[in-house]
Amino acid sequence: MPTAKKVVARVTELRELIAYHNDRYFGADEPEISDAEFDELVAELRRLETAHPELVVQKSLLDAPGAPSTTTFAPVTHRLPMTSLDNAMDADELRAWGERVAKGLPGEAVKYVCELKIDGLALSIRYEDGELVLGATRGDGKTGEDVTGNVRTIAEVPARLSARNAPRALEVRGEVYMSKPAFERFRMQKMQENEARIAQDKKPMPIPANPRNAGAGSLRQKDPAVTATRELSLWAYQLGDVDGTPAFTSHHETLDYLRELGFPVNPEVRIVDSLDRVLEFCAHWQQHRNDLPYIIDGVVVKVDDLAQRERLGFTAKAPRWAVAVKFPPEERTTLLRDIKVSIGRTGRATPFAELEPVVVAGSTVSMATLHNREQVQLKDVRPGDTVVVRKAGDVDASRQRPLEKLLVALGIKHLGPAAAESLARRFGSLDAIVAATVDDLAAVDGVGAVIAESAHRWFADKRHKSMVNKLRKGGVQFDNVVVVDAPQTLAGKTVVVTGTLTGFGREEAQRAVKDRGGKSAGSVSAKTFALVVGAEPGAAKVKKAVELGVPQIDEQGFKRLLETGELP
Ligand code: IVH
Repeated sequence: MPTAKKVVARVTELRELIAYHNDRYFGADEPEISDAEFDELVAELRRLETAHPELVVQKSLLDAPGAPSTTTFAPVTHRLPMTSLDNAMDADELRAWGERVAKGLPGEAVKYVCELKIDGLALSIRYEDGELVLGATRGDGKTGEDVTGNVRTIAEVPARLSARNAPRALEVRGEVYMSKPAFERFRMQKMQENEARIAQDKKPMPIPANPRNAGAGSLRQKDPAVTATRELSLWAYQLGDVDGTPAFTSHHETLDYLRELGFPVNPEVRIVDSLDRVLEFCAHWQQHRNDLPYIIDGVVVKVDDLAQRERLGFTAKAPRWAVAVKFPPEERTTLLRDIKVSIGRTGRATPFAELEPVVVAGSTVSMATLHNREQVQLKDVRPGDTVVVRKAGDVDASRQRPLEKLLVALGIKHLGPAAAESLARRFGSLDAIVAATVDDLAAVDGVGAVIAESAHRWFADKRHKSMVNKLRKGGVQFDNVVVVDAPQTLAGKTVVVTGTLTGFGREEAQRAVKDRGGKSAGSVSAKTFALVVGAEPGAAKVKKAVELGVPQIDEQGFKRLLETGELP
């Protein structure tokens, strides 16, 4: 029996050899070994990985979706560019935007329309004389992709407008998305299909990690009949090029008009006359974002008056009359089941967390990166802890971006950390990178044709595809997900636990309180914030809590308390 050290060394060596020969095979150089010899190396690595699952690096680093076939659509030049929006990351940045608006409109009162920022795919739908003639993705804002056939299959998109109202031309802009319940149905169906495939010894098919990816993938199908089987929805929020519509003076009139024509327009729209009210709207939806059956990632604030918009105009990139207020990355707490260590291709150890599955920003997360060993020690995270899981990469949500690490770890020729970071930022998941065309990849800042070609070829190779597919079976997440330490929701609060809880051992419960900055006490006093009551509680504690008016909560309430710091 080889010692653990020897196994680690051999696994590391094999990974390096495989990466090296892979490179020979694909690079300008001739391969040095035969395919059979190469396969032997892979087989040996596989045997060792099966015998020592704790060494399977890819399980933590990869969560590969198989390569969905890349499809090319005809390019469409937008008559009016589909610009993106400037972001405001916090209240100060929103106020700074407000000041720029005020400066551009001296002495004028301004009304703002607050809308939800739907996390989907921007679409422009063109009608001529009431007939749907074009559906186009945003692309780079100037040129998008013609997805008309697929757009026609979306039930919520009117195929024609009633002749009485139909203008000569009307471009409707909105967000195509897959609702959370539709995504759940879609995911369950794909999982059942995969079970059947696995039973027949066929490779499982990729399952998108979240509604956004599922929506984007569904809209970019080659065959509209496939798109038709997906439950896609639309929120219309803006007019593009128009001809022969009524004359509008405000944005809210255009939304009413779209609603009258039969387009789905989100009902959660507020017209307000101060930035304080805008901030209230933002705060409300930041807190209630999970109550919605679709995913939002912020609020879009638009100047209502169209003449004022005209005067404000555009910067090189975006309108001055609108801004996207981005929510901070979504966080969820869950139980850390175990910490394992994966050994990378270069022999580097990366700890990763096995988690009680939890939905973060629409993705079910069961594993996450734990930075490095020093961080684990520093934060003192241990199995049994309640940890916070956050999707990284959106915002500043952190110098640690597992996806970029994964990309580097794959050993794709020419793909270094800088390009990997750009790709991770731009695409957010391996799924999206695998699905991207060479042009999509090359269009990313700091990537370019050479890296794009190399990455595309890497993902197209059947050896890599099968490796990636095998990993997919493990059901690991590929998005940028990290475990961060717990937010201090219980700072200054004392919590007492009595009786038996089902999801926490006694020590775990105490630790969860402490992790959040709280104090876990053994007896109830006037200072106790809450008494957590499990099965067969101590009668004295309960009696004392009643006497002192200390709130009593059950396990559900405890979980909520940990997460929010609030009593249910
Ligand atoms: S208006 C010129 N309204 O967010 C204004 N965009 O970061 C065009 N989005 O590209 C956009 N919800 O894909 C607008 N209610 C909303 C939106 C929205 C989501 C997306 C859209 C846009 C991106 C900008």
